[in-house]
Amino acid sequence: MTQPSSAEPGALGRPARRASKRQSAPWFTAPWRDRAGRVSPFKIAVLAGCILPALYMTAQWSTGTFTGRPLNQAMLMTGVWAVWFLLLSLAVSPARSIFGLGKLIQVRRMLGLAAAAYTLAHLVFYVLMEGANLPFVVSEIINRFYLTIGFIAVLGFVALAVTSTDASIRRLGGRWKWLHRLVYPIAVLSLWHFFLTQKIDVTLAVLPTGLFLWLMLWRGLPPVIERQLVSLFLLALAAGAATIAVEYAWYALATFVPASRVLDANWHFGPRGPRPSFWVTLDGLAVFLAALVWRWLPGHDKIGVALTR
Ligand code: HEM
Repeated sequence: MTQPSSAEPGALGRPARRASKRQSAPWFTAPWRDRAGRVSPFKIAVLAGCILPALYMTAQWSTGTFTGRPLNQAMLMTGVWAVWFLLLSLAVSPARSIFGLGKLIQVRRMLGLAAAAYTLAHLVFYVLMEGANLPFVVSEIINRFYLTIGFIAVLGFVALAVTSTDASIRRLGGRWKWLHRLVYPIAVLSLWHFFLTQKIDVTLAVLPTGLFLWLMLWRGLPPVIERQLVSLFLLALAAGAATIAVEYAWYALATFVPASRVLDANWHFGPRGPRPSFWVTLDGLAVFLAALVWRWLPGHDKIGVALTR
């Protein structure tokens, strides 16, 4: 199992490798530079990808494409992007291990910080939406369960973001790793909040939850089999089945919708297309196929190094 190690950055940060490096590590590295201070095209590309949703929303807002209430739209979109960036940051470890792309680690902190930034923007838009009436916002957060758990997740994001600096990693030592494992409960709270914000149809929330289940199942694999193709194949099927189970349980326990009908929809495509379990299984199989092709590709090590430079 690839847990964050002392030589490896967590979702929102990165420990220094050795004592000598610890002493010489600069207090700030521009996000487009690698550890050696060189400009990294790979990091520039990932940074651009992190900023792109914000630019897209700004463009939509300024051109009046946001329908109805722009603040509400911006609030919803930033919430969704926060979830996806969180999942991307969690996907770095499996991607490194399965494809042998060690240097992917250099963008994990960036992806985690992007998740934290979109979450904070989400909260700010919510406050603005409520006319910046802070006493009202506080009472809402206290009284509405879905906001309470969202707020706890935000606090977690803030804790991880502020301790993601190299200086914090040095200061906290071994405790840093434990602190940054909070990313998993934070992800659970964020997804739970996502479910609760959906009125009846939770399809939008089930998809990222299914992918999160894939990531958690992968983390649970013994290290000796986490890269094996057969494991990845079975993992795709297991994540799909787990997605069906979570979706069924949600409808059965939290709604009046007949859960058996939703379950049934997993076996055939309705007018609204396949259920999330289909996409989760497909994504899992895509990872399996990509790993298969990658290993078969001559010189894939060199390609990997070139891609993440
Ligand atoms: C104090 C913290 C938070 C507040 C006040 C808050 C508030 C809200 C509100 C009011 C909604 C819309 C509910 C509705 O339409 O009825 C919402 C939706 C959502 N929130 Fe939050 N939220 C918080 C934290 C979070 C966190 C930590 C995440 C994830 C990282 C998140 C992700 C989402 C998502 C994905 C949606 C659904 C968007 C959609 O339906 O398109 N929120 N939130």
